[in-house]
Amino acid sequence: MADLKYRSPRGTSDILPEDQPYWAFILETAVGLAEVYGYQRVDVPIFEFADLYIRGVGEATDIVQKEMYIFEDRGGDRMALRPEFTAGICRAYLQHGMSNRPLPVKLWTAGPVFRYDRPQRGRYRQFHQFNYEAIGELDPWLDAEVIDLAWRFYERLGLKDLTLELNSIGDGRCRPAYREALRAYYRPLVDRLCSDCKDRLERNPLRLLDCKQPTCWALSEAAPRSVDYLCDECREHFAGVQEWLGRYGVPYRLNHRLVRGLDYYTKTVFEVQPPRQGAQAALGGGGRYDGLIEELGGRPTPGIGFATGMERIILELKEQGISPPGRKLPVVFVAYTGEATRLATVGVVGRVRAAGFIGVHAFGSRSLKSQLRLADGLGAGYALILGEEEYRQGRVVFRDMATGSQEVVSLEEALSRIRRG
Ligand code: HAM
Repeated sequence: MADLKYRSPRGTSDILPEDQPYWAFILETAVGLAEVYGYQRVDVPIFEFADLYIRGVGEATDIVQKEMYIFEDRGGDRMALRPEFTAGICRAYLQHGMSNRPLPVKLWTAGPVFRYDRPQRGRYRQFHQFNYEAIGELDPWLDAEVIDLAWRFYERLGLKDLTLELNSIGDGRCRPAYREALRAYYRPLVDRLCSDCKDRLERNPLRLLDCKQPTCWALSEAAPRSVDYLCDECREHFAGVQEWLGRYGVPYRLNHRLVRGLDYYTKTVFEVQPPRQGAQAALGGGGRYDGLIEELGGRPTPGIGFATGMERIILELKEQGISPPGRKLPVVFVAYTGEATRLATVGVVGRVRAAGFIGVHAFGSRSLKSQLRLADGLGAGYALILGEEEYRQGRVVFRDMATGSQEVVSLEEALSRIRRG
């Protein structure tokens, strides 16, 4: 292994067949739920003009400052691999005049996103998000519906003991005063802050609240709270969100230090945290972004959305001992016993596949014993052994691989027994 010439780049992974049932389970659950909440699929490019994310996600964010994969293409344009979906979806909303559709426009997507992060458990450079956005509605009822969808999704996966954290960080009207209050609080403490926080203090003081360095974390405990600085509209909105969440029956915990790492957020922000883990490891997060579409050149348009990291969900499913539902199709191995039946295998496997089962066989020319070993290795539930004599009479040896019991039956009979299970 050590002397392999090529390995996958750091922070990326191969999703091997044995993990695919987890991916299918998560995606099917997420899509099924998004659809019944009225979301439709959209797909956006894996790369866009870098400027879209710089504008959208925000110049001062870690994502833009440190984590974006930026490259100049052969035409000299500065492009970036998508570090998230929201900016791309809002661009698509504008580009395709979606404001003419019934509002809110509800869109979901899923796929790989890229951040040059420091790889560790649950933190990768290529990872996958399931993401949805609801654009064009200000009502706090929508915030609650978006949060309800996130909550029901984890619930449907069977995950237990998760926490939904909620906060409001205000908007362009009330946030400047809050930022100033934070600076005023932290300035006398600046010598005790980590070097990142020293940098952030003037540029992006909200981010000091979620720094996980022990001293910064301790200092943030007594820092001013955004909810105490909300303007009337934001305060009313936040009260509305909480009222509606009550009606949906979604339990939540207010977290005054929840600020999120992307600049486009206004008002409502939320995260879903797994049990037993540091706040760095949110399973998912989202919030309102009422200024983003205008920032991207559109008319003022509110929006709210959510994204969840699929790798982190798989880690948590494994942690909680939850297995995805098993493979549904039976595997049927067709074995030959001589030259004539070896050639006839093609036809029999074809019948097996046409019946909707997984049809497999050995290539080459192998002994029956070696074929049955292969059948075991492939997880076959049944083998159809083509004895030369029986096959001429249109019959096969039907073997139940679990018990080893065998019976000579017609091919039709074998297939209908498999169908009955
Ligand atoms: P985010 O919090 O940056 O939000 O990412 C959402 C989720 O992606 C995280 O909660 C986590 O599960 C996963 N994630 C983030 N970084 C990594 C990483 N390096 N490795 C593995 N998983 C990771 C957004 O991206 C926003 N666009 C969400 C949103 C949608 N807000 C409004 N609409």
